[in-house]
Amino acid sequence: MLNVRPTTDMIKAVRGTRDLLPPETALWNFVESAVRDVFRAYNFQEIRTPIFESTELFARGVGEETDVVSKEMFTWSDGERFDEEALATEWIARGVEEKRFFVESATPVNSYLSPLRIRFINRVPDRPEFVCFRPKATLESVDLLLKARADVKSDEFLRRYSQDAEYVRRFEIKLRIVVPSGTADSASWIDTRGVEVEQFQNRTPVFKSSQSLTLRPENTAGVVRAYIEHNLEKRGLNKLYYIGPQFRRERPQKGRYRQFYQIGAEVIGPASAGSESPARDAEVLEMLATLLDRLGIDGWILQLNSVGCANCRPDYFRALKDALRDVAPRMCADCQRRAVTNPLRVFDCKVPEDQPIINNLPTISSYLDHACTQHFLQVQEILRALDIPFNLNDRLVRGLDYYTRTAFEFTHGALGAQNAILGGGRYDGLSEALGGPAAPGIGFAIGEDRLVMSLQESAEGVVRKPDVYVAALGAGMNGEAARLARELRRHDLVVDLGDESFRLKKSFEAATKAGARYILIVGENEVKADAFAVKNLATGEQVAVPRAELARRIQGE
Ligand code: HAM
Repeated sequence: MLNVRPTTDMIKAVRGTRDLLPPETALWNFVESAVRDVFRAYNFQEIRTPIFESTELFARGVGEETDVVSKEMFTWSDGERFDEEALATEWIARGVEEKRFFVESATPVNSYLSPLRIRFINRVPDRPEFVCFRPKATLESVDLLLKARADVKSDEFLRRYSQDAEYVRRFEIKLRIVVPSGTADSASWIDTRGVEVEQFQNRTPVFKSSQSLTLRPENTAGVVRAYIEHNLEKRGLNKLYYIGPQFRRERPQKGRYRQFYQIGAEVIGPASAGSESPARDAEVLEMLATLLDRLGIDGWILQLNSVGCANCRPDYFRALKDALRDVAPRMCADCQRRAVTNPLRVFDCKVPEDQPIINNLPTISSYLDHACTQHFLQVQEILRALDIPFNLNDRLVRGLDYYTRTAFEFTHGALGAQNAILGGGRYDGLSEALGGPAAPGIGFAIGEDRLVMSLQESAEGVVRKPDVYVAALGAGMNGEAARLARELRRHDLVVDLGDESFRLKKSFEAATKAGARYILIVGENEVKADAFAVKNLATGEQVAVPRAELARRIQGE
């Protein structure tokens, strides 16, 4: 039967990812530039960490029992890496040992040829070979060898390296690809053009074991890894911010994507630099209030809690486990597991039937030790002094394991089910958990997708429309029009440029569609007069403006 399936199926963006298109991107730029201004005012500096990290970083940093790590990560093995050197070393050593050949020289051939990963091997006196060691025979390696041989036989080579030239001229150079045995026999389907492909029975492994990598589901672990790796403790208190994509395999819905963007910040450093002080918590929260206000987001609610520290948690966990022992059998399978492995995570449960049970569980607030209680009270005191409103919410535990003491979320009514616009808190033990020095820290991440969604202004409002549309009129005018556009853009004007194939009517339509304030006509007469017709598209007023005054006139000075 004929396969009639069309081969030109449309390829769509992957579920949970999306394209951000203009004019909405203007809103994203507006948000990012406003938050950069705020970060600058609070003396935060940008950090950019890789988009993928070793899986272990998130397992140890964020916690294996969290939903993010246990269910939502995009993880892959970066595959086995072929160790060319190991194969070459063993092949040469074994050839000699088994007296199959004798090696007079075995040198990588990149001293006189372009960077080629091949070797020049003298197997027995006067039997030179070019050999490359590959995981499998490929056309590329065949090409490489043939080219290498052609190169050394070329007049250019013979001229430049006359010492070696004498030798290569005398002998035919054999070409060989050595591949480890057990890999697919690719030589059977490629045209090897006389190059010998040798399947070598290697004894030592030539594939290095693979590494598990993960697309970052969040950026705090990455920042703390970078803090440790680059000894940032030497700098005292680090105030860092980031803007970038994060990845979680969640069920997509409004405000929840698999690739989403976070704007985040972390304050981290040795305790001696003040990183543990409640003043830091309050400063971060006040900055967030300022930021949301400046963006024109009103109606946010700050939910605040303290989740204690390594000292007060054990007592609380015991009480929580005790309470769960009775009720867990009536809860979902995830909760039954969490009740044993990581009871705090029971609070992440979204199953509706479990909620009444969860609402009756003991909360951390009555188990805080003296130091945590004092810390939390001081944070609240500063917030009151700053007139930052907050709701105490003792059920707020946050979904990531690293949190200690202050934990918070800002919610916004307009967002629907996914109403957390941002979340954050302290993570005083995270650096140690990742093998670093003690480095108390506090930070947050704003869901940029949600932030943009909750902005009242329409995207149209923040787009800068063209100041002028430069219309080339008549054959041969494109160059002159481009020159004018170039001059005007140097004056920081937004300029849109037409095409000489457009008639006057079409140019006007294009200028109006682009929302330009003025249209500037570049025709033969105008060029001759060195003065151009400039028409205000809103008022219809038209004047002839000398070239030298164009920018000033359009700027409206
Ligand atoms: P998080 O609460 O997991 O915290 O995420 C922070 C924010 O990212 C959420 O409040 C939400 O706005 C947004 N977000 C999370 N998942 C998605 C998604 N699938 N689609 C759209 N937006 C989403 C963290 O990530 C911590 N690293 C925050 C932090 C920084 N804590 C201390 N420092």
